[in-house]
Amino acid sequence: MRMTRYATLATLAAGLALGAGARAQDTVKIGLILPMTGPFASTGKQVEAAVRLYIARNGGTAAGKKIEVILKDDTGVQPETTKRLAQELIVQDKVAILAGFGLTPLARATAPVATEAKVPMIVMAAGTSIITNDSPFILRTSFTLAQSASVIAAWAAKSNIKKVFTIVSDFAPGIDGENSFKSGFAPSGGTIVGELRTPLQNPDFAPFLQRAKDAAPDAVFVFLPSGQGAAFMKQFAERGLAGAGIKLIGPGDVTDDDILNGMGQPAIGTITAHFYSAAHDSKENKAYVEAFEKANAGMRPNFMSVGGYDGMHLIYETLKKTGGKVDGMAFVDAAKGMTWTSPRGPVKIEPDTRDITQNIYIRKVENVGGKLYNVEFDKVEMVKDPGKK
Ligand code: PHB
Repeated sequence: MRMTRYATLATLAAGLALGAGARAQDTVKIGLILPMTGPFASTGKQVEAAVRLYIARNGGTAAGKKIEVILKDDTGVQPETTKRLAQELIVQDKVAILAGFGLTPLARATAPVATEAKVPMIVMAAGTSIITNDSPFILRTSFTLAQSASVIAAWAAKSNIKKVFTIVSDFAPGIDGENSFKSGFAPSGGTIVGELRTPLQNPDFAPFLQRAKDAAPDAVFVFLPSGQGAAFMKQFAERGLAGAGIKLIGPGDVTDDDILNGMGQPAIGTITAHFYSAAHDSKENKAYVEAFEKANAGMRPNFMSVGGYDGMHLIYETLKKTGGKVDGMAFVDAAKGMTWTSPRGPVKIEPDTRDITQNIYIRKVENVGGKLYNVEFDKVEMVKDPGKK
């Protein structure tokens, strides 16, 4: 009698342990690291909202596995913080995939963690070319500055813009943007009449804009990280650059959909090249914008959000190919070459670089029915990152 009771308890305990084990194996945990507070919080909010939207629209399981997202706020400024959070997510939370990464220095600092732990790392936001070289476990669903800057350089060269003054934020993507613009614009006969780099944190653009105005260029090329465009636009108008007939061009970060509508008159006419506009005319994008705005009152999806949304798509579709398994390199290999139609248009994960190939659209800020949008008027199809060595 006693024996039976013990046996029953033991069986029950074993059963419980098995149940817990089976449950853990039935879940794919994704460690999502984003700047949810601090100067780049708009990126974190956009990417998180899109990740949640993808799950809401596609279900909480993929290939029979429950998808669990563990969100960590790295506050966006300290690479060591992002790296530590990644280590904790892997060791303590046992995440199978790392994702997010709002800024280049944060992604780069974390790359060795992905390599050492053999954990796939989906870069959903940061945009310098070198990031994908930092670890064979990195896949990117955002963009590169070289994609956008090379396209606006070619457009400027054939649009009667002869003299350009460049202003970029003084960190890796700004430098990538500046170099790509110069190497596309100068060989086509353009002249760079001045180049300045603004501090990443709390920039005061006035003195930079004054120097740009004094150089009397046809256009100012500007790169600022997502979120900083409004202050720049205001000062561009106040300093009289627009009044002096100086055009404003650049990658589309400066006319970020998250804040574009609030920029008002000074933003109108800005011409940028970029991979996503909330005004992109496709059925996939109309459905995306509508669902995003419904789920996030008062927010318009920007380019960062689409990196998050497509990052989730890549995870879901790759899990379907691996039968729900995430064993490091096999997962990365299964993701290589994937193509799909994103809200931004057609995209592909290049098998050799693990980076994203996509259309780059040329857009002009216009007032559409009382709201400001980046209205696409031309495109270069399926641009591979030109910054890969
Ligand atoms: C980056 O850090 O790579 C970055 C940040 C903001 C942007 C683009 C790139 O808008």
